[in-house]
Amino acid sequence: MNHTGRIAVVTGAADGIGRSVAENLAGAGHTVISLDIRPRDGADIPQIACDVADPASVADAFGQVEREYGPVQILVNNAGISPAAPNGRAVLIEEMTDADWRRVLSVNLDGVFHCCRAALPAMKRSGWGRIVNFSSQGGRMRSMLSGAHYAASKAGLFGFTRVLAGQCGQSGITANCIAPGRIETEQSDQFALDDYVSQIPVGRLGRPGDIAAATRYLVSEEAGFVTGAIIDVNGGFFMP
Ligand SMILES: NC(=O)c1ccc[n+]([C@@H]2O[C@H](COP(=O)([O-])OP(=O)(O)OC[C@H]3O[C@@H](n4cnc5c(N)ncnc54)[C@H](O)[C@@H]3O)[C@@H](O)[C@H]2O)c1
Repeated sequence: MNHTGRIAVVTGAADGIGRSVAENLAGAGHTVISLDIRPRDGADIPQIACDVADPASVADAFGQVEREYGPVQILVNNAGISPAAPNGRAVLIEEMTDADWRRVLSVNLDGVFHCCRAALPAMKRSGWGRIVNFSSQGGRMRSMLSGAHYAASKAGLFGFTRVLAGQCGQSGITANCIAPGRIETEQSDQFALDDYVSQIPVGRLGRPGDIAAATRYLVSEEAGFVTGAIIDVNGGFFMP
């Protein structure tokens, strides 16, 4: 796969899938910067503190990236929160507070809007850009583990990404969604794992590296004709 060294922002790359994505893209020759609310000590990837839910924090962080590294050409919107479902049951809609709803939507959906808005002017000036938004299989199907706020935020990204792709295709910018299945990270919920894995055709949970590999393709030079797509990376668990 062909990669020209670009300036790449990965949100939420202090941990989990985002960290693997950032390391993979750095390995492909890109200069990768992590924007995370909780920067990690001793990380190899340069980090800037940023709350993607806060438009002012996002504007400041993208300004800092441009001043210190140059115009952003790759944006991976990975940062997201998924409220815990410790007993394998997501919070019921009638029990959900306004604060629960707003917090999930503000990070998972508003955050992507804030970062795309901040990145697009530099991408348009460059005439080249790659945006990858991390949705979830929870945005496509009914899940016992994800609440309605999480599902709504991740399904919202499908529509958002299609409009984005339509608006920026003429400027050499692609925009796609990756919809991961259940991925094993340090924070993974262990609930009903055996039963779940038995339903995955590939016979295992996903790994952060599976998502990083798909991202690496979507931001490559060769992927310029792939836009507005939803790439399911889930071992075949969900087949529409
Ligand atoms: N792990 C899975 O099974 C799975 C499945 C489907 C989709 N996803 C999606 O993949 C993405 C990464 O998931 P993960 O499991 O690695 O999560 P994680 O919780 O391990 O890591 C998320 C990262 O985002 C950061 N973050 C959280 N809120 C933020 C904010 N407001 N501003 C900036 N950074 C913030 C966290 O500090 C953390 O570093 C999420 O969007 C998630 O919804 C994960």
